[in-house]
Amino acid sequence: MIESKLPNVGTTIFTRMSQLAAETGALNLSQGFPDFDGPAALREAVGRHIAAGHNQYAPMTGLPALREQVAAKIALCYGQTVSADSEITITPGATQAIFCAIQAVIRPGDEVIVFDPCYDSYEPSVELAGGRCVHVPLALPTFDIDWQRFSDALNPRTRMVILNSPHNPSGALISREALDRLAEFIRDRDIYLVSDEVYEHLVFDGQRHASVLAHAELYQRAFVVSSFGKTYHVTGWKTGYVVAPPALTAELRKVHQYVSFCGVTPLQWALADFMLEHPEHIAELPAFYQSKRDLFCDLLAGSRFRFTRAAGTYFQLVDYSEIRPDLDDLAMAEWLTREHGVAAIPVSVFYQAPPKDLRLVRFCFAKREETLGQAAEKLCAI
Ligand SMILES: Cc1ncc(COP(=O)(O)O)c(C=O)c1O
Repeated sequence: MIESKLPNVGTTIFTRMSQLAAETGALNLSQGFPDFDGPAALREAVGRHIAAGHNQYAPMTGLPALREQVAAKIALCYGQTVSADSEITITPGATQAIFCAIQAVIRPGDEVIVFDPCYDSYEPSVELAGGRCVHVPLALPTFDIDWQRFSDALNPRTRMVILNSPHNPSGALISREALDRLAEFIRDRDIYLVSDEVYEHLVFDGQRHASVLAHAELYQRAFVVSSFGKTYHVTGWKTGYVVAPPALTAELRKVHQYVSFCGVTPLQWALADFMLEHPEHIAELPAFYQSKRDLFCDLLAGSRFRFTRAAGTYFQLVDYSEIRPDLDDLAMAEWLTREHGVAAIPVSVFYQAPPKDLRLVRFCFAKREETLGQAAEKLCAI
């Protein structure tokens, strides 16, 4: 028998709920992906580049034209100059970028602070590096960092902190003040940062994303990760990037070059073309998703679910305690899928130790208006 290196890992809830939605014919508002296509010009560009013969290995660090576009976007959005050559690396998805950053710096015995509820890839990546995750719960109901608990978790073994803003599953945003506070705590310590900013452009109500890229002090020790999949509605392309100061980038690339070596060539060409030709896509993205959030929330206002509108991401949390307080959230997600035809994700799966009275499920509103309308109708009938 093989002794598993990841004994606690099974099939993820995202796969399970998507399967259940397919089996039962439920509307799938569980897993985080759009039910609409990315821009036609982007999709057509892939075919063009395949026909033009862009089908062999890309450079290990990523196509120069795409790294240049990312650098230009960072200058535009965050007012920062980063080197396309020595600070930006294109990876096959943000998940792989996070994995490589963790492998690059975490050693056996190191501790990594994660804030629960947190994305499920962090912990296995830390464990494979021989490290251990220390889970610090965010304060409910706002999902802000609880600084007392954070400071209690810090110790000489702490080697990394993983941030995620805009935050999956809550949609909460980290503030610039919180970044300043974090900088104060870790200033004199040997601690790196992974800042998972895959939803960086999905920020609503006129708020601004506080990126670690725009925080000069934190950036010096950070790997900032993003995903073209989220930004361009092409999650299946699994193409992302990581931005880090030159010394950290050099270490990250040592890992990346033996995990995948490089990302998919024609996709990188297509993204580079599209970013150059359609800068308006990013500018329009907040309004695009805000209108989906508002449509879904306006329709749900007639239901017995309670919620505060998500500040960012394409996820909406809802409290169901007025409907089925007797069910935990796993049972609730299954009940919603089987009995009411709408699949959701239970929030407890993002926790090491979920709060006992948690009655929250997550819906993904990256869906066509028609899908959101049908889902809301079913949810309002409960
Ligand atoms: C918080 C967070 N980080 C990372 C990812 C992964 O991004 P990618 O598909 O580019 O690997 C996701 C995708 O759902 C996510 O929600």
